[in-house]
Amino acid sequence: MKILVTGGAGFIGGNFIHYMIEKYPQDVIVNLDALTYAGNLETVEPVKNAPNYRFTHGDISDRILLKELFGREKFDIVVNFAAESHVDRSITNPGLFVQTNVIGTQVLLDMALEHGIKRFHQVSTDEVYGDLPLDRKDLLFTEDTPLCPSSPYSASKASADLLVMAYGRTYGLPVTISRCSNNYGPYQFPEKLIPLMITRAMNDQPLPVYGKGINVRDWLYVLDHCEAVDTILRQGKPGEPGEPGEIYNIGGNNEMSNLEVVHILLDILQKPRDLITFVTDRKGHDLRYAINAGKMKKDFGWSPGYNFERGIAATVQWYKNNPEWLENILSGRYLKYIEEQYGAITEKGGV
Ligand code: NAD
Ligand code: DAU
Repeated sequence: MKILVTGGAGFIGGNFIHYMIEKYPQDVIVNLDALTYAGNLETVEPVKNAPNYRFTHGDISDRILLKELFGREKFDIVVNFAAESHVDRSITNPGLFVQTNVIGTQVLLDMALEHGIKRFHQVSTDEVYGDLPLDRKDLLFTEDTPLCPSSPYSASKASADLLVMAYGRTYGLPVTISRCSNNYGPYQFPEKLIPLMITRAMNDQPLPVYGKGINVRDWLYVLDHCEAVDTILRQGKPGEPGEPGEIYNIGGNNEMSNLEVVHILLDILQKPRDLITFVTDRKGHDLRYAINAGKMKKDFGWSPGYNFERGIAATVQWYKNNPEWLENILSGRYLKYIEEQYGAITEKGGV
């Protein structure tokens, strides 16, 4: 099988490529990535010489490039990880999120349709459901929870999901969607809570916790997410003609407040709690996410393999063991390399 993975130089897409290259040496993986500030070729350095892997630099909304790529490669499957993924950035630059997450997905859908792709899998997020109250632990997101996104990021992801379902129902494109909770693990860009706190704590810098730190997320180790997406690709059900295709919630069954997470990280790193600094809250900050992943369990017997204790220990250890990966990001050196190799990139960002 030939699989197009978009956004494979990012955190989850990169981990997914590592996982797939090792598990399915007979399949070919083509990684299409625009190498925005969040894309880092060092993340896929370990697989770059694998005979069943290749990289293409490009934007998922570039119709001309995609036409040529799809025509040449004749993909069986498309897995769309490519996205602008950071909520805070969506608050300051919503237009970019619409361009990549909505328009980009629509262009990919057109290409998938034109080229008779056997499966289009959209990697979505639990944030499309909005948030849950802190004091109703009995409430969880199911696949039937109405879409109610809060931020420009989650609104753009929800829009993409609607387009994916519409292409399933209207044109009979075989589509599936997964909606996952917060991931953590190796290669995550240090703008997101866990890698940001690890990086700053390792350098004895203040840890900026938004508001009172009481917001709750449902944390999942990234390899569990990769395994779940792989399971959906192999066993998930695209819709029958006239149906939109199945949606699968993926979660860690592991709710924790931000403050709890930061305390655990400080304890592992043996750093003092007075590094914590409470800062102005995020605008429109979602209170709580919690996934009911019962459908993944019922349909495929899938459940997370890592508990938080094991996953977070492995994650902290990875950041300790890979100071060059981190240093290249913090210094901006990785952007320089990308610029030299590929010319101007779409957006620059610092940490
Ligand atoms: P990331 O920001 O680490 O990586 C995104 C990748 O997409 C980068 O390599 C970037 O260069 C690439 N990209 C951005 N715009 C592009 C474009 N126009 N064309 C081609 N490539 C482009 O993101 P992530 O955390 O790995 O998230 C991957 C996907 O998973 C996203 O769709 C996100 O919405 C979803 N998701 C993330 C989480 C999470 O906790 N991180 C949870 C659930 C779902
Ligand atoms: O739920 C899935 C989503 O999880 C994904 O779709 C997104 O791509 C991903 O970025 C993530 O979104 P969050 O907004 O939940 O993740 P983030 O790491 O930005 O923040 C997690 C929590 O930590 C959130 O409540 C805000 C808080 N936070 C975050 C940062 C960066 C802080 O308190 N301080 C910070 O500096």
